[in-house]
Amino acid sequence: MAEKFKMFDGAEMENLRKVVESQSAWRGCGNENFVTRFEDEFGKHLGVKYVLAISSGTAGNEAALAGVGIGPGDEVICTPCTFIASSMAILSVGAVPVFADVDPRTLVITAEAIEAAITPKAKAVVVVHLAGQMPDMDSILAVARKHNLAVVEDCAQAYSCTYRGKPAGSFGEAASFSLQQGKHMTSGEGGMVVTNNPEVYKRAFLYCNCGMPWYRYGLEIPAPDTSGPIPRRGHFSVGHNYRMTDLQGAVAVAQLAKLPSFNKRRIAMVEMLEKTFKGAPKVLPAYRYPNTETVYWTYPLRTDGITVAEIEAVCAKKGVNMPPRYCEVNYLEDVFCKAEADRRTPLGCPLPDYVHYRPGLCPNAEFGAQRVIPLFVHHQMADQEQLQKWATDLRKVLVDM
Ligand SMILES: Cc1ncc(COP(=O)(O)O)c(C=O)c1O
Repeated sequence: MAEKFKMFDGAEMENLRKVVESQSAWRGCGNENFVTRFEDEFGKHLGVKYVLAISSGTAGNEAALAGVGIGPGDEVICTPCTFIASSMAILSVGAVPVFADVDPRTLVITAEAIEAAITPKAKAVVVVHLAGQMPDMDSILAVARKHNLAVVEDCAQAYSCTYRGKPAGSFGEAASFSLQQGKHMTSGEGGMVVTNNPEVYKRAFLYCNCGMPWYRYGLEIPAPDTSGPIPRRGHFSVGHNYRMTDLQGAVAVAQLAKLPSFNKRRIAMVEMLEKTFKGAPKVLPAYRYPNTETVYWTYPLRTDGITVAEIEAVCAKKGVNMPPRYCEVNYLEDVFCKAEADRRTPLGCPLPDYVHYRPGLCPNAEFGAQRVIPLFVHHQMADQEQLQKWATDLRKVLVDM
């Protein structure tokens, strides 16, 4: 058996050793450390001006929304087919998610669906590059411009993916990334919010740092008023502590350097899957949008004329284990069912008459979610032979059906 591929190795260890020896793992104000080095290197990698490394991709979604000025009572258009963090972040900043339907081939939001979902107080749209699939960004940006919507990209699953040669995360007013362990690269947990707009960066920073403006990039840091009997410390707005530690920064710097080699392994696994399923009945290869290059997070194998549950049932009878199914339609989750019943969001924002969270809301999403098998192609997959065996077994089941 091939030696197990190592996600972490001496490079992370060496950086971590330096953090331990420095006796400080805190971001702090004005410190130059692995966190700030990672911000600089990721900004260069992506071609964006401002990067804030933080504690998670979920925090990144919130900070991106706060950065573009979303707050209580605003409405934000979002896909239901995503990890819940994309829509939950909208709830967390006090706003109202408005779900728009998706392309059933990819489960990715479309410009037409965004336009159909426009509501009176819609101020932004969260575009999730699900599994690494970027939609037609030209038409999405055109619709956003027409309706004055800020575009926030959720790139948690879309490292190294491009549209017309430009990377995911460089199109919207702001974008977020995740460094959670299952992603293209990781610091265990962690994330980034990125933007080219200094005002968006500043608002995002305040949101992630208890309202304290420890900006970088030469941006002016306002001084607090210290003239009173108890001087102010300098908390200028509401915020959380979503700071990244230097232990995470140390790992993230090492991981970014390895991203191309991790991507290579992902691409090889996808090639293997596509080869194995080529010409197989009842499944179709992932749909690829024109003008896009993808490094899949999961490989979205599509079913053809049959549901995933029907395939699972036959597999179960034949003793072939399907990999765990990862597919969500956010508004069917309890948190949204409860909001629908209460007619208010968990943070107490009333739901307008035209906003609902109930089955049937996005027919393509509900149809598509039963017809995509998202296959994990994580670069660390200890046993790629196992994935190959499973794909071969499934192909046999499909041929015999
Ligand atoms: C599309 C999407 N958005 C956001 C997140 C949240 O990232 P994190 O787990 O780092 O909070 C994830 C994580 O799986 C994700 O897949």
